[in-house]
Amino acid sequence: MRVTGATDEAVSEAASIIGQGGLVAFPTETVYGLGADALNPMACARIFEVKNRPRFDPLIVHITDVSRLHDLCAVVNTRASELAGVFWPGPLTLVLPKSDLVPGIVTAELDTVAVRVPANPVALRLLEESGTPIAAPSANPFGYISPTTAQHVEEQLGERVDLILDGGECRVGVESTIIDLTGEDPALLRAGGLSLEDIEAVIGSVDIPAVHPEKPIAPGQLPSHYSPRTRLVIVSGDPVLVGGEARAGLLAFRTPTHTEGYAAVEVLSPEDDVREAAANLFGALHRLDNADLDIIYAEPVPESGLGRAIMDRLRRAAQQ
Ligand code: TXA
Ligand code: MG
Repeated sequence: MRVTGATDEAVSEAASIIGQGGLVAFPTETVYGLGADALNPMACARIFEVKNRPRFDPLIVHITDVSRLHDLCAVVNTRASELAGVFWPGPLTLVLPKSDLVPGIVTAELDTVAVRVPANPVALRLLEESGTPIAAPSANPFGYISPTTAQHVEEQLGERVDLILDGGECRVGVESTIIDLTGEDPALLRAGGLSLEDIEAVIGSVDIPAVHPEKPIAPGQLPSHYSPRTRLVIVSGDPVLVGGEARAGLLAFRTPTHTEGYAAVEVLSPEDDVREAAANLFGALHRLDNADLDIIYAEPVPESGLGRAIMDRLRRAAQQ
């Protein structure tokens, strides 16, 4: 495995690795993806092995532009065209009925497929040069914090990836929003980097299905996900240390009024902005998780816009 800057030569090499059935970690605007040729079932099987991901958890397929959607989907309805037209490239994944082109392993044998066009120049160059759709989950071991830098990928998956393209820090910092367009009404399967408010402004009201933990529709809905190894507790109000021996860390939304007693403090948004907080979330969690703490106290963020995605990740991180 090598980590390399995303030069033209490196992207060409990455494309040829994809062509040979290998695995390439690459930046997107949301998080780093672990990519393989989506039309090559053996290559996709390696994604599951490397991530230790259960086979029932389907993959997101990345394409260069909306015109490729028709290759992968049996039906592209009006809502899909509208959303793709407004938000692609961008942090939005659409679930639609799959075409026969998509191998069963990619969709965990579901008859639907999740597709998106990433808004990252390195990802788009890689997709173009590869000439094939790329299946890519987040490039982390299953259930752990998602990577927003090439270093996170290196630490977590290291030798098991053929090449890591370093495109710097991910701009959005949380995964794409997933909308299911296969039912009568659109449904939110995962809150993410595009706000529900923005989506509803285009297609009207979106259902938020009740989650049944024993039978998740999207495995991102598993109660424990995005988790640090360190215990994490969400505390409302200004968290004050109760004392004791424990080495505690603080994950604050705004600049906290007092930080005495904390062994480590991360502030998600000095500017008091949920977008900035989302961009900093996983990096801050990685640092706290590496700070040899006994517990992480996390301050809740306002639950609108990208705050919905942040709170979703924090709640799952707290369910260990
Ligand atoms: O931002 C992102 O979406 C990142 C980057 C790399 O693009 N990818 C990502 O993939 O977050 P992953 O595998 O970590 O999450 C994919 C989610 C899973 O929860 C999966 O269940 C859901 O997408 N999904 C995939 N196909 C689906 C389908 N046919 N129906 C419902 N959910 C699906
Ligand atoms: Mg993931």
